[in-house]
Amino acid sequence: MCGKKPTRDEAMALLQKYNTNLSLIRHAVSVEATMRHFAALYNEDVEKWGIIGLIHDLDYEQYPDQHCTMTRKLLEDEGWPEDYIRSVVSHGWGICSDVEPVHTMEKVLYTIDELTGLVTASVLVRPSRSILDLEIKSVKKKWPMKNFAAGANREVIERGAGMLGKDLEFIIGGTITGMRAVAAEIGLQGDTVQAG
Ligand SMILES: [Fe+2]
Ligand SMILES: [Fe+2]
Repeated sequence: MCGKKPTRDEAMALLQKYNTNLSLIRHAVSVEATMRHFAALYNEDVEKWGIIGLIHDLDYEQYPDQHCTMTRKLLEDEGWPEDYIRSVVSHGWGICSDVEPVHTMEKVLYTIDELTGLVTASVLVRPSRSILDLEIKSVKKKWPMKNFAAGANREVIERGAGMLGKDLEFIIGGTITGMRAVAAEIGLQGDTVQAG
């Protein structure tokens, strides 16, 4: 690729080359859709933000102990541009990388990564099992419940929202809207129409 902008098709092919786990792929698609929504909101490059969201956990299935580090290597080997790689790796700031989110895109990725997990879990306990009727307040209600979606680190989400200078309602609302666009693909459209 040699510094050329990666396409969405190339990103998806690469994701599928290293990931077979359905929930990891759904997580990637959820983050992609949320990034696309916020890119449009901030009047930024929707395609670029989406691709970075889609590929951000590339190494997680095969190299969980080298998370972020291996993604950098894999993307470098594919000739991805440095600014894409930097943004991808910054999502693990303070956890698996020391690259601090600086650009708005990086701050959004950092903020919504864990939140997509909390939103997904909030949908799956609803009778409808659909994101289409999920409200912001349902997710907020889960915030203090430490045992609910315990893996979704609320502190990271709050820190990210602080970096963006936005409140949680704005972040949660945008994440729900973003994920709704791919509800069927991520298995959150409700039991009646959900395939598999
Ligand atoms: Fe990650
Ligand atoms: Fe992630």
